[in-house]
Amino acid sequence: MGEVVPLPTPEERPEDRPVLVVDLGGQYSQLIARRVRECRVYSELVPHDVSPAVVRARRPLALVLSGGPASVYAEGAPKVDPGLFELGIPVLGICYGMQLMALELGGKVEPTGVSEFGRTELQAQPDSELFAGLPADEVVWMSHRDSVTAAPEGARVVAGSGSTPIAAFEEPVRRLYGVQFHPEVVHTPHGTALLKNFLYRVADAPPVWTAAAFIEEETERIRSRVGRERLICGLSGGVDSAVAALLVHKAVGDQLTCVFVDHGLLRKDEAAQVVDTFGRHFHVPLVHVDARARFLERLAGIEDPEQKRLRIGEEFIRVFEDEASRLGSVRFLVQGTLYSDVIESGGTAGVAARIKSHHNVGGLPERMDLDLVEPLRLLFKDEVRRVGEELGLPDELVWRHPFPGPGLAVRIIGEVTEERLEILREADAILLEEVRRAGLYRELWQCFAVLPAIRSVGVQGDERTYAYPIVIRAVTSEDAMTADWARLPYDLLEAISSRIINEIPGVNRVALDVTSKPPGTIEWE
Ligand code: XMP
Repeated sequence: MGEVVPLPTPEERPEDRPVLVVDLGGQYSQLIARRVRECRVYSELVPHDVSPAVVRARRPLALVLSGGPASVYAEGAPKVDPGLFELGIPVLGICYGMQLMALELGGKVEPTGVSEFGRTELQAQPDSELFAGLPADEVVWMSHRDSVTAAPEGARVVAGSGSTPIAAFEEPVRRLYGVQFHPEVVHTPHGTALLKNFLYRVADAPPVWTAAAFIEEETERIRSRVGRERLICGLSGGVDSAVAALLVHKAVGDQLTCVFVDHGLLRKDEAAQVVDTFGRHFHVPLVHVDARARFLERLAGIEDPEQKRLRIGEEFIRVFEDEASRLGSVRFLVQGTLYSDVIESGGTAGVAARIKSHHNVGGLPERMDLDLVEPLRLLFKDEVRRVGEELGLPDELVWRHPFPGPGLAVRIIGEVTEERLEILREADAILLEEVRRAGLYRELWQCFAVLPAIRSVGVQGDERTYAYPIVIRAVTSEDAMTADWARLPYDLLEAISSRIINEIPGVNRVALDVTSKPPGTIEWE
């Protein structure tokens, strides 16, 4: 009998063996998935009512149950199918997730009358799997009212705090683990080390999710999807569309044409930089449309923020369509949709995710009958940046602060005119130059100038002035959902203020916005 030669099996990709974060509605579910990925293990969110059969089919290396609402006893509190604990897959329950596990597995959860919120001292057992290599006494972030008062059958209690004796448990036979605190937040300094213990030691998950691996797989996927067809991509000057375009270009070269619509609402030198990077450096076929006059015309006399957005969006679609029809037969539209957009649009439900259209080209696919290619829809923003770096995108573009599609139009409060755009662009450039010089650019989520179209009285030299103010808006944030106003040093503020007033005729006052989000938004309109 001849030798039996096994058929070659295709190599497994990191996404084939994910860590699934079961979303129980807590505010940190997305953050858990991001932290797992920071440990180089691919992770995705799934809804809490996911069935054991669906989970098994995804072949996850581990499950993490997220935090959730106030109490497992609250009316309508989310539950999971207890069958998830019978799959032989390691499970880590966090906060509410831990309590749910305890409840389902024969332990006890009770309102003990003692709640813990914020930094808490924890005593842990370093001979446990979760706390191996970690200090016995550490600080963790707690946020709970109910407590686990009896661990599941067979589980060992491996950490406790002053008021919560059962703050972590381990059941190594069924591989079920729970922690009452939040290892995913920065206020738990050893949180990542604990997650690594769970991922590497308990779940045996290899750290293989890297930018290089992603690029290799994704370009392969793009190639097999688009064949010999042509694609277009709208470049906005931001990092998402830039990385999406470069990935597709790497996969299929000149089948991709990029369209860059300069609507005149960009920051100083941005248009030139996009053209330079894509056209000259990467040799991506690029159509540069100078539509500045068209947009200004559409914005004349308009003060209402929603009207501005609407008109800019409509005009953008018109310009883009004109260019696309010039290109002839194009089958695909490339968009820089991110995983957070997918999640926000209810994408954790999996298959039929409704995707929020990219702000800049919203509405295009339906009107133009193009199929979407979204090469970044598995990635978080920080991963997009790593992929951008790996693809050789210049630092300046990779680390650029987010910028709204309607651009400077929503930073001029009042009518958009050429004069005001010019003033705002110059003020913004000075602000960013000084912030960069102070080495603070990367620490800020966003930093920009706002021009409220009002005038106030000032005096310069012997002259009375009557001119615009410029407002400095600088915030720190993790994800733009919440933000804190940045405490910029006084010296820096002084340098910015005097440069803006001295160098820009038409400005005689600089103010600082000290509003966090909430209650403010990051942008002014
Ligand atoms: P807000 O102002 O709502 O902004 O706190 C949150 C984040 O979203 C950005 N943003 C936009 N991005 N098109 C975009 O592409 C838009 O119309 C838009 N509006 C706000 C904003 O800069 C911040 O990062």
